[in-house]
Amino acid sequence: MNFVHGRRIARQRTSGAVSGALLEAFPRLMATSDEQEPAYRDADFTGPIAATWKEASILHALVKRLKPKTVVEIGSASGWTAAHMRAAMPQDGHLICVDPFIETARGLVKEGSQAAANRLYENMERAGFPDGWGLHMQPSPYILDRVAEFLGKFEFVFVDGWHSDGQPARDVEGALAEAAEGCVFALHDMHMTDVADAGMLLANKGYHYHRFNTRHNLAIFVPNTWPENGPQKFPKWWLPFQRDVNTIMVQA
Ligand SMILES: C[S@@+](CC[C@H](N)C(=O)[O-])C[C@H]1O[C@@H](n2cnc3c(N)ncnc32)[C@H](O)[C@@H]1O
Repeated sequence: MNFVHGRRIARQRTSGAVSGALLEAFPRLMATSDEQEPAYRDADFTGPIAATWKEASILHALVKRLKPKTVVEIGSASGWTAAHMRAAMPQDGHLICVDPFIETARGLVKEGSQAAANRLYENMERAGFPDGWGLHMQPSPYILDRVAEFLGKFEFVFVDGWHSDGQPARDVEGALAEAAEGCVFALHDMHMTDVADAGMLLANKGYHYHRFNTRHNLAIFVPNTWPENGPQKFPKWWLPFQRDVNTIMVQA
């Protein structure tokens, strides 16, 4: 799909005030297909695929409800989901993006792309986030202990890096080692075997889980140790959060 067509589809399909405004701050983001809920990508960096606007909006709603001060995103690409999460965070919160920018249309390469990293910086700046976030341009999970030294223990982690070769489980394991009590996880692409394995790892640690009916099956994992967890499966923010999500799901 050429850029002009893909951009037009992205404009037509993106809904919601937050996503609509952010799309204008991402002038090279385009849809990859004509589908009702298309995936997005940056026109100039053809490897990584970005979340749909619904998935990005659900992350926004989740962060808005939970108000984490420390958020880590593993796999940021041009910043579409990062901007949605940063937009929902408290002013004094901090988001760290971890991405070595090694993903291309031909698979992983050795040398990270500084141009791709610059695109993330430009987009975040245009989106109104000159600060309150940072980039660690090294591969997860090896960098996560250094991220925690700088950021403190993680309160919310979104895993969307390399999706194969057992990497998602390594990312989750690495993040769990630096997680604050009650840390919530979100995993993208739960239909993929290696991501499902990472989900299993969390489930085996007693995390409750909900998978959304979105294009790439976004899932969230909430620890069952939360004091708010009564006889119900989920803590008390769950019902209002679900109401927000249902609103997102019917917008189109
Ligand atoms: C699916 S894209 C991320 C899309 C982004 N979350 C969004 O929806 O806007 C995956 C990204 O993970 C990055 N990646 C690959 N291996 C990684 C690793 N070991 N650690 C962190 N990021 C990695 C790639 O460079 C790529 O930019």
